[in-house]
Amino acid sequence: MRLSDKSAIVTGGGAGIGRAICLLFAEEGASVVVADIDETGGQETASLIADAGREATFIKTDVSDEGQVMAMVDEAASAMGKIDVLINDAAAFVFGQVEEVTDADWQKVFGVNVLGPSYCVRNVMPHMKKLGGGSIVNIASVSSFIAQPAFVPYNTSKGALLQLTRCLAMDLAPHNIRVNCVCPGSVLTQATEAHRRYTGSDRDDFLREAGASNFMKRIADPREIAYGALFLASDESSFMTGSPLIMDGGATAQ
Ligand SMILES: NC(=O)c1ccc[n+]([C@@H]2O[C@H](COP(=O)([O-])OP(=O)(O)OC[C@H]3O[C@@H](n4cnc5c(N)ncnc54)[C@H](O)[C@@H]3O)[C@@H](O)[C@H]2O)c1
Repeated sequence: MRLSDKSAIVTGGGAGIGRAICLLFAEEGASVVVADIDETGGQETASLIADAGREATFIKTDVSDEGQVMAMVDEAASAMGKIDVLINDAAAFVFGQVEEVTDADWQKVFGVNVLGPSYCVRNVMPHMKKLGGGSIVNIASVSSFIAQPAFVPYNTSKGALLQLTRCLAMDLAPHNIRVNCVCPGSVLTQATEAHRRYTGSDRDDFLREAGASNFMKRIADPREIAYGALFLASDESSFMTGSPLIMDGGATAQ
């Protein structure tokens, strides 16, 4: 029960890594608000938690719309009584080389991946200040550090999210609010499948190639990444802020 008595908002909790984080946090004693633009996926995560006898509320939210974020945070605070933890996991996946990418693509990817987390932080801050502190975890990526073929908008947004993490960590430290990020390598989710479709690769070849770029020679399961978010959300990481936790099977160590 590493999060007993903690209340957490997880954006993007309706699928993939966000869902794994919601389930693990609930197992570890947290009350969870699942905030996602996808009603079906978000409700499903909340039901899985409720079936396991834990507390969860789904709130339909587009994180790129600050009005919706504000309403979600208000509802989350009423439902859980307080907000100790914010996980910024929701992301838009826009692939392509620079000539292929439209202004609308850039606006979408920055709206969801950079402005979205900023809106969430801005709106949870008063609640965390009232509590005397909190922990914010951004789900960044190895794409925050490295270039990958035809990944221009997404990788640029994830680089910005890493820098947002550092800047927020500095400014929020006086309020005892820690801000860190998890930087996963390849993880098996619907987003990976969307990337495979974009590349036109065969599924087995794609997975083999994704695994080949790390020491472990495999792609990660979302739950393996959720454990990183758990550590950063919990008091076990009390002296960590502004840090990227790289979970990539060694891909960026070579
Ligand atoms: N899958 C990977 O290989 C991988 C690697 C590194 C980092 N990441 C990061 O992990 C996080 C989760 O990725 P995933 O692979 O689990 O993706 P996913 O597509 O499985 O899940 C993303 C969730 O975010 C939600 N979402 C999308 N836009 C939203 C919006 N505007 N408002 C609210 N919710 C929205 C989706 O509905 C979905 O439920 C992302 O931040 C991603 O950048 C993923």
